Amino acid sequence: AEASPSEFTIKLNANPMPEDERLQAFQSLGFGTLFSDHMAVIHWNVVKGWHSAEITARGPFAIDPAAAVLHYAQEIFEGMKAYRTGDGKVVLFRPDENARRFNESAKRMAMPEIPQELFLQAIDQLVKTDAKWIPEGEGSLYLRPFMFATEAFLGVRPARDYIFCVIASPVGPYFKGGAKAVKIWVSENYTRAAPGGTGAAKCGGNYAASLIAQQEAVEHGCDQVAFLDAAEHKWVEELGGMNVFFVMDDGSLVTPPLGGTILPGITRNSLLSLMRDQGMTVNERPYSFEEWQADAKSGKLKEAFACGTAAVVAGIGEVKFTQGSFQIGTGETGPVTTKIREQLVSIQRGKSNDPHGWVRTI
Ligand code: PLP
Ligand code: COI
Repeated sequence: AEASPSEFTIKLNANPMPEDERLQAFQSLGFGTLFSDHMAVIHWNVVKGWHSAEITARGPFAIDPAAAVLHYAQEIFEGMKAYRTGDGKVVLFRPDENARRFNESAKRMAMPEIPQELFLQAIDQLVKTDAKWIPEGEGSLYLRPFMFATEAFLGVRPARDYIFCVIASPVGPYFKGGAKAVKIWVSENYTRAAPGGTGAAKCGGNYAASLIAQQEAVEHGCDQVAFLDAAEHKWVEELGGMNVFFVMDDGSLVTPPLGGTILPGITRNSLLSLMRDQGMTVNERPYSFEEWQADAKSGKLKEAFACGTAAVVAGIGEVKFTQGSFQIGTGETGPVTTKIREQLVSIQRGKSNDPHGWVRTI
């Protein structure tokens, strides 16, 4: 029988990190370098379905060198955060949306879907077990659910064995500069995803393909890469790990539409709701790199920002590309960006009311 959410075996880590070491590490949190004591693991195979769900000490997997993931990259992941609220509760933000998107990614990569309840239980059980790993204040516990193909087989077809796992990492700001506006490199040599490809799936391969462009961004002193569409190299799509919004001088916003080549961000979707709730106009429409340059120069474009789970909302101050560079607005994070960021963060952290029921208490 398939695993049901109540059937997690809990095996506590016999050697957890000592408390003083953990608290010391909390003093200088970056992104994704520190990990909690446990992980959630669930196995799937074609005969048993989902089975052997457990919370166990975080540690290496032993996988066969012929494991399909190592050759044909059947791997998907999610990114979400647990927060500690001012009144001591532990909350997640829209975890059902991560579960839903995870299964969309699974379908695209010919991998088994996981029942939403099982996905959410794995998250809940891990967060409960490692609750002391959720930093107070500005930090959060970043959760990384992922699934990969373990079947030892070199033929090219969907694998018959998978591991689903969740690890947890206490994090501070994604960008080293903290709240300072970021610099973006527009990649004209490389694209991220073509129509019919995997752009809307959160699969590791998309990120592998983006690394050379991200490396180019770093070489040019930038924090993130922005990709243009693959067909015309004309339309702004998204950043390596974030969606993008533009704030116009009439107070309206523009963000590229979802169309299969960009990741449907949960932050993007939440911001669209928050903005529209307040009567702001947001146009989901194609925005060209030419328009971006012209609007920045004429002053029609006041602000731009990146958004995603890891980065939250980050102002974009400067844009570089092979032929030159331009500044957006004052080059600093603008007031519209700051305000919408605060609105989102205060809902996520249980500081303001939650009209859409996005916050789930564990
Ligand atoms: N776009 C890409 C390529 C991403 O990796 C992410 C991060 O998850 C996002 C957008 C933003 O998605 P979300 O807001 O769901 O974190
Ligand atoms: C996230 O925001 O969760 C991401 O996945 C972005 C990046 C760290 C890959």
